[in-house]
Amino acid sequence: MELLDAISTRISARGFLDRPVSRETVHKILDLARQAPSGSNMQPWQIHAVTGKVRAELIEKALAYAAEHPVGSVPQEYQAPPKNIVRPYKTRRFECGVALYNALGIDRKDKPAREKQLLQNFYFFGAPVGLIFSIHKSLLPGQLGDLGIMMAHVMLIAREFGLQTCSQGFWQDVQPAIRDVLDIPEDFYIYNGIALGYADKSHPANNLEITREPVEVFTTFSGFEE
Ligand SMILES: Cc1cc2nc3c(=O)[nH]c(=O)nc-3n(C[C@H](O)[C@H](O)[C@H](O)COP(=O)(O)O)c2cc1C
Repeated sequence: MELLDAISTRISARGFLDRPVSRETVHKILDLARQAPSGSNMQPWQIHAVTGKVRAELIEKALAYAAEHPVGSVPQEYQAPPKNIVRPYKTRRFECGVALYNALGIDRKDKPAREKQLLQNFYFFGAPVGLIFSIHKSLLPGQLGDLGIMMAHVMLIAREFGLQTCSQGFWQDVQPAIRDVLDIPEDFYIYNGIALGYADKSHPANNLEITREPVEVFTTFSGFEE
């Protein structure tokens, strides 16, 4: 697949087929993704790839933890998005939620239904493979950008294998559960998850109309007319 096709066909998939992804495929994706650049080539990413029984245990423990500590109730050091989010980011975030709930036929006032959907994060939305990204705490916050670049590489390379992904900040909220299952030391911050699998194209959550601002909104061009 051409890079531009990978970019234009990538979506955040929130419904996956019950079709496994082999260790070999995950390894190939990560083997290419490790070419991602990072500050001073520090390569500050640690990744746990889970499937099968370990994935099942992670789901079980994450759900149990979230039942006792509802998502958002325990402030995280690198909370994304931050609590004091301002416009226009606040508006865009709201519209993103509206697009998802509308597609799923969930009334915004229906809190139990919204919470149920939110918990789908901890099932990796049905994806057979979950990737958990962590980073040594001594590198925070400076190298978080490196982690993001690595994640973007993974998400785009996955397209080459016909796979889709969903980046998942929600995993930050259940760090103790992840630590417990995957034996991640306390000096590592668990930043994000990525659900990886074959997208269920017919799933309503995979057919959202998610827009982007035009280039002029976020770019200041200078010196081009000289
Ligand atoms: C760092 C990061 C964290 C995200 N966390 C979540 C998440 O926890 N759950 C979720 O459903 N989507 C999550 N997303 C997906 C975004 O909502 C999605 O990228 C955005 O709405 C744009 O849609 P698109 O990826 O389909 O183009 C996350 C994306 C990024 C980049």
